[in-house]
Amino acid sequence: MFEKIESARAAISNASLGQASELEAFRLEWLSRKGMIQDLMAGLKDAEPESRKALGQALNELKNLAWERFDQAQSNLGAAQSDVESPDLNLPVQFLPLGSRHPLSIVRQQMVDIFSKMGFALADGPEIEDDQHNFSALNFPENHPAREMQDTFFISRNPDVLLRTHTSTVQVRLMEKQKPPIRAIMPGRVYRNEAISARAHCLFHQIEGLYIDRNVGFRDLKQTLYHFVKEMFGPDQKIRFRPSYFPFTEPSAEMDISCLICNGDGCNICKQTGWVEIGGSGMVDPNVLLANGIDPEEFTGFAFGMGIERITMLRYGIKDLRLFTENDVRFVRQFSGLS
Ligand code: PHE
Repeated sequence: MFEKIESARAAISNASLGQASELEAFRLEWLSRKGMIQDLMAGLKDAEPESRKALGQALNELKNLAWERFDQAQSNLGAAQSDVESPDLNLPVQFLPLGSRHPLSIVRQQMVDIFSKMGFALADGPEIEDDQHNFSALNFPENHPAREMQDTFFISRNPDVLLRTHTSTVQVRLMEKQKPPIRAIMPGRVYRNEAISARAHCLFHQIEGLYIDRNVGFRDLKQTLYHFVKEMFGPDQKIRFRPSYFPFTEPSAEMDISCLICNGDGCNICKQTGWVEIGGSGMVDPNVLLANGIDPEEFTGFAFGMGIERITMLRYGIKDLRLFTENDVRFVRQFSGLS
């Protein structure tokens, strides 16, 4: 056994360990659980009792020697490798650009925040709709020219499947499944068959609001929107309501705010009027309540709808609607840091 240990020691001392593969072979041969040293250790129990102690000692020394050589060779190899790959600390830092949120997402969130502080919950619905939700339940009579107000993209006819032209569809969906009180806002994408220009697009975004409860009056509508405008555009902003017509509200009003560009003096943006339109509104028509199973004798409500693009353009002085969908990073990057 002493001879075996002696020849093992010679082998361990002389093993060449310059390569990673040699080092691994050495580890397997000598140091692993099935390696030679472990084998020799196992043989100890068959040795003469009187030589066991000396043998054990010799084996321990052998083991230490093998580990020493292994550790030494491993750290030499590591040093050689890191010599090659050591980083160049003089290189300039690699710049990781931070993304920016789309201005429409930013303003949508600002609007949602303002209304949710007033107790409006968030609701949404599908963009592909039927005639019932986009028109009929909103008091658009069959073949009535009011349907022409909104140039509709039809996916199929009879029965009609279409891309919603306004988020008022979500009003209907809410009334179908929820009894009053209802107080919700519904942001979403809408589609209209219009030629694309600086002022119009075939797809854009709206936020609709609906509040139905006992004793809801026009004063509540006015105060809600008045508060919204002050929060969104600042305390000096003026708002006015102009009589208008929508099939689903009676009375109806269009909402204007004083032009942010010229402060009401008159400029190109406001067509010299000093006012710019931000959306439509009105008291929910009793016919709409009835069509959706709500008793108009007991409940009243108001609704309003605004274009998110429009609000964003006014808020940040953007003059062309097409910028929102072209996604030129130079445009979008201007909004980085805003949330
Ligand atoms: N749905 C209308 C539109 O898209 C806006 C509106 C909503 C008007 C709610 C009144 C009440 O033009």
